Amino acid sequence: MTLAAPLNEIGTAPSRAPRQPRLALLGTGTVGRAFVARHQRLSQRGLALPAFELLANSRGVFDCAGDPEQVLQLANDAQRNGVAHEIDAARLRRGDILVDATASDAVAARHAEWLSRGIRVVTANKLGNGADLLRAQAVARAQREGHAHYGDSATVGAGLPLLRSIRELVAGGDRIHAVEGVLSGSLAWLFDRYDGMRPFSGFVREAREAGYTEPDPRIDLSGEDVRRKLLILARAAGIALEAHEVQVDSLVPATLADAGDDELDARLPLLDAPLREHYQQAWRDGAKLRFVGRFEAGEAGCRASVGLRALPADHPLCGGSGTDNRVAIRSDRYCEQPLVVQGPGAGAEVTAAALLDDVLRAYAGG
Ligand SMILES: NC(=O)c1ccc[n+]([C@@H]2O[C@H](COP(=O)([O-])OP(=O)(O)OC[C@H]3O[C@@H](n4cnc5c(N)ncnc54)[C@H](OP(=O)(O)O)[C@@H]3O)[C@@H](O)[C@H]2O)c1
Repeated sequence: MTLAAPLNEIGTAPSRAPRQPRLALLGTGTVGRAFVARHQRLSQRGLALPAFELLANSRGVFDCAGDPEQVLQLANDAQRNGVAHEIDAARLRRGDILVDATASDAVAARHAEWLSRGIRVVTANKLGNGADLLRAQAVARAQREGHAHYGDSATVGAGLPLLRSIRELVAGGDRIHAVEGVLSGSLAWLFDRYDGMRPFSGFVREAREAGYTEPDPRIDLSGEDVRRKLLILARAAGIALEAHEVQVDSLVPATLADAGDDELDARLPLLDAPLREHYQQAWRDGAKLRFVGRFEAGEAGCRASVGLRALPADHPLCGGSGTDNRVAIRSDRYCEQPLVVQGPGAGAEVTAAALLDDVLRAYAGG
């Protein structure tokens, strides 16, 4: 026999106030800092947001009872002791929200485990859905089984409506035929600025100083970052694409790839001659250089590639400027003309905004 709960005066069962979700932020670097600052600004404007429970970086886990900006400072001032620490997620409970603003493979490897415990995960780290296929499939399974939200809109296009559009098209019965795009803000900036006269390496240094590239620009120039984004897009389209199935043409010659950190700057001019040649050939053909990731799905399977392309000036991917991402999606309904999404797709501010949007979506999900 089950006992019915007593009814209160207005005829409903008295219920305890639902426990408020708490927020854990992993990563206190460029994106983590922008995330905390935006969280504080939005909270001051009266937006209901979960409170921080903890902040963590590679140096430790920091309790966040007070002002998160002070704790952030403390975390970033902490000494490195060379001892790896485990993220203690045991203290997080079903419904809490964990934000991954690291680039750590070890952290991404735990997304599925956290989701299966009902912890909602919001990530700028591409290594959850954009690395190994088995890991991405485990994330999808854990999301279903744990009934937990996985917010990954910051991983591609820094929150531009890209993943969302693809998922909504698929949910609406469309098949995605092809996606091609300028998916790297730093490479978009480089090829928007490069004029074939001044050395390419000078633009790379400028981009690095402006914070557009990773501290080691080879990560951008190798195409690895674009491969991960393409994998995330393809998997959102329902295609089980493996990392090795993407043909990646790196811009980094072997002698630059092999350089130690202290030799990197001196060897950057190795980029100059091959890039000048590409530029001159494109210029003679009336084309523009763009670093493009694309996949095409058909009866025979999926073909995917990443690399430098010379495109006609009126090609959909030649618009935009600065660090703009520009992506063309072809599906059953957008067959003749693609759906094109364009806008700033890099930078800490837009990335932090995308993370907060996902937190709010997870929060609204109850
Ligand atoms: N910057 C952008 O514009 C941008 C745009 C889109 C996406 N993203 C992505 O956002 C993520 C963060 O980028 P970022 O530019 O903020 O990087 P970052 O400045 O290098 O910061 C990375 C943070 O992660 C922490 N970390 C590393 N391993 C950790 C671990 N095992 N546990 C906890 N924390 C750990 C680091 O700790 P320490 O400080 O102790 O080393 C650091 O605080 C990356 O995945 C990146 O690809 C960045």
